Amino acid sequence: MRRERSRTNRPPRRSIVARTDADDEVLGRAFDRRLIARLWQTTRPHRRLVVAGMLLFPVVAAVELLQPWLVKVAIDEHILRADWAGLATIAGFYLATLAALYALHTVESYLMHLTGQRVMHDLRAALFERLLALDARFFDRNPVGRLMTRVLNDVEAVNDAFTGGLFAVVADVVTLAGVVAIMLWMDWRLALVTFSIVPALLVAAAYFRVRSRDAYREVRRRLARLNGFLQESLQGMSVIQLFARERHEHASFRRLNGDYRRALFGSTMFEASLYASVEALGSVALALLVWYGGSQIASGGLTFGALVAFMQYTHRFFLPIRDLGAKYAVMQAAMASSERIFGLLEVRPAIVSPASPSIARPTAGTPALEFRGVWFAYEGEDWVLRDCSFQVARGEHVAIVGATGEGKTTCARLLNRSYDVVRGQVLVDGVDVREWDLERLRRHVGIVFQDTLLFTGTVEANLRLGADGTVSSADLDRAVKLANARTFIESLPRGLGEELGERGHNVSQGQRQLLAIARALVYNPAVLILDEATSSVDPGSERLIQEAMRELVAGRTTVTIAHRLATIQGADRMLVLHRGRVHEEGTHQTLLRAGGLYAKLYELSMGARTA
Ligand SMILES: Nc1ncnc2c1ncn2[C@@H]1O[C@H](COP(=O)(O)OP(=O)(O)OP(=O)(O)O)[C@@H](O)[C@H]1O
Ligand SMILES: [Mg+2]
Repeated sequence: MRRERSRTNRPPRRSIVARTDADDEVLGRAFDRRLIARLWQTTRPHRRLVVAGMLLFPVVAAVELLQPWLVKVAIDEHILRADWAGLATIAGFYLATLAALYALHTVESYLMHLTGQRVMHDLRAALFERLLALDARFFDRNPVGRLMTRVLNDVEAVNDAFTGGLFAVVADVVTLAGVVAIMLWMDWRLALVTFSIVPALLVAAAYFRVRSRDAYREVRRRLARLNGFLQESLQGMSVIQLFARERHEHASFRRLNGDYRRALFGSTMFEASLYASVEALGSVALALLVWYGGSQIASGGLTFGALVAFMQYTHRFFLPIRDLGAKYAVMQAAMASSERIFGLLEVRPAIVSPASPSIARPTAGTPALEFRGVWFAYEGEDWVLRDCSFQVARGEHVAIVGATGEGKTTCARLLNRSYDVVRGQVLVDGVDVREWDLERLRRHVGIVFQDTLLFTGTVEANLRLGADGTVSSADLDRAVKLANARTFIESLPRGLGEELGERGHNVSQGQRQLLAIARALVYNPAVLILDEATSSVDPGSERLIQEAMRELVAGRTTVTIAHRLATIQGADRMLVLHRGRVHEEGTHQTLLRAGGLYAKLYELSMGARTA
């Protein structure tokens, strides 16, 4: 179930960049056995595809290795003997191997891509499912940018592991093993000539691997920075333009963009150097072969065709090694990404329904809501509520007031278990919220949060959000009417069918609030909590909301949270929150007369209103 989450009173998130950064720059080994094992598990539903693809590897290798052999036969037995008919047969065979390779490669690539795509699809679904189950605290700690990276980019990197890394390496190893075996079998001395290059090759590969890993890590770090910057700029575009910061932002972007380009270029250069070095060493190997093999032919120890075939095998031997750099980078990225993906999949939601939820059976005296010695902090010991206790009777209309940041919204979040208390208890109908079935609780306690969030879709779809399928049009009508949103909805060209944009940006804030109230009313919650529902509307809309409120309150337990005390004087009782607990409580009149904190807040609020 989608819920609104309030995001007020928090320091702005300037830290996206830094956080994604720290996380994404960690690059470990290219082959981590534990991660490979887990990746292998994710292929389980598609095991047949994988196995079919892998069965093709030896077949492909065999056909590839057959080609040089055919060349050898063609030279030694047909060309040198001027047997043109035989040569035609061999040419036919050669053509057949080409056709077979073409077909095999097509099927192989098809299977690998299909597997990769399916695994990617599964992972993305699993990640989103996990995210849906996670609690508000998790989202406090993980910026949106980072989670987007998990679901989109990291999953993509894992796909690359299937299509360009893991299986390609396995295929290479199979081919390489075949090449080595054939070379040794044909002529072990000649084979050793080729292999004499291997130590130099290893040194070059090791050197470039280290350098390219560092370069690649730098690429990732700078890309993360660029990503974070871009995301923040796009989200804050209106503020950037408002403060005429375009030029400044442009300069920052250019700097980050340039950094990224340089890092990318550096990384590409290492890859290219490795490529070139391996090519050069391959040429040296060929030269040695021609030199040694030529003398062998002269002394009759080797046929001409065998030497040509050998040279081709040598080429096949160097090919996978030459491409190793690219594959290494792909695997490294894939390992880092899968580590993060599996990390996220392993996060256990902190707030879940109990195994056997209690059903509330309230008696006449049971308060509808109760805070019993509640202690709560978002982080460590930064107590927002300290030993906070209060009760709200059934059908009562209570207003919670207090200065900004005193914890009013926090109380609402504890009531629907967006967060759990640290100590004490929050009870709804006499039952601890931790014993309620979560979905039931959230239908029982309807909350209209400060910043209303609407989703892309029609007005009607947004109103039905909390109760899909189970709501009749009559219920919908009633909610719209109660929320005083009817005039507004009827004024829309398509009425209930009007499409809202992303986050409901094409309706005003006041209209959004009317819709949010209607949305909370659609499933007719027994308890309604309105968090400053009138904070951002013009006097006209405010009056509409006020009137709606009067209707709402009738026969329903209601808690309103408001700064502007004028709007809540009708409440049965005021709770004044101060320093984490209820500092004063009583009716508007008694509290005014008492001349305490409430009286002061009221005075300030009235002053602000008339000023
Ligand atoms: N998600 C969060 N993570 C960490 N701290 C938070 C979070 N939300 C709120 N806080 C902190 O908890 C305290 C209480 O916040 P809360 O939103 O409950 O205040 P409030 O009384 O609703 O304020 P306002 O009247 O401005 O809406 C504040 O100091 C705030 O900085
Ligand atoms: Mg608040």
